Amino acid sequence: MTFLSFQPLTEDLLPDAFELDQRCFGGLWTLDGYRRELDSPNSALLILKAGKELVETRSRHKKAAFYSPTPLSLPSPPSSPPPLLGIGCYWAILEEAHITVLGIAPEYHRQGLGQALFYALLRSAYLQGLERATLEVRISNQSALSLYQKFGFQEVGRRKKYYQDTGEDALVLWLGGLQSPAFLQNLQDWQEMIRDRLHTCGWQLDQDWDQAIVKKLGLTQ
Ligand SMILES: CC(C)(COP(=O)(O)OP(=O)(O)OC[C@H]1O[C@@H](n2cnc3c(N)ncnc32)[C@H](O)[C@@H]1OP(=O)(O)O)[C@@H](O)C(=O)NCCC(=O)NCCS
Repeated sequence: MTFLSFQPLTEDLLPDAFELDQRCFGGLWTLDGYRRELDSPNSALLILKAGKELVETRSRHKKAAFYSPTPLSLPSPPSSPPPLLGIGCYWAILEEAHITVLGIAPEYHRQGLGQALFYALLRSAYLQGLERATLEVRISNQSALSLYQKFGFQEVGRRKKYYQDTGEDALVLWLGGLQSPAFLQNLQDWQEMIRDRLHTCGWQLDQDWDQAIVKKLGLTQ
């Protein structure tokens, strides 16, 4: 198992954030763009990092597998993960969270990291007292679209030829009711789902991982 942690982007990790941006989006923001985000009081920019590997846990599992009549199928720890696994950002504008960035290092796709990071953004938005969340997504980006729909986002419109590189349309998605009791319940349910998914891929979240995000972003519960 390898530990995962979330934290706000800091100055020392700017070059890593820029490099990850290049790999995820082919250069969405410049280095200066990321620096501006650090200075903006409205920007919540979270990174997802791999921490230390839980060696004892694995050796205990190996022992169990040795004595087990049917060998246990255990997740392999990811081999030397990069400094940053993911990056996500939203801007708090009036009562809305405008989600601007969500990217996971390509070699770590489909391991539950994207939904964990997306959850972290939504939870932060909820704790900031924001009422709604919105984002734009390329119509061809089925992976991202599916992720957003999984969290209840709904298509409310389309911006024609929004992306200059391909001339593609953008779908505009919204999620309302962030301060409703139902959304709070969803957050609790998603937390379990996210933890379980990560576990099957060899990732381990800190016990109090979402409290840690709260503390690091200077939010209150
Ligand atoms: C979109 C992205 C963040 C998803 O990250 P990820 O870590 O691979 O996603 P997860 O493993 O957490 O998957 C969560 C959900 O996303 C959706 N999803 C992710 N990859 C998918 C794929 N290849 N096909 C279909 N659905 C996919 C599914 O709904 C999935 O839930 P499920 O596992 O229950 O089916 C990642 O593909 C990425 O970084 N893409 C490049 C950058 C980008 O396009 N960002 C979005 C800009 S709007």
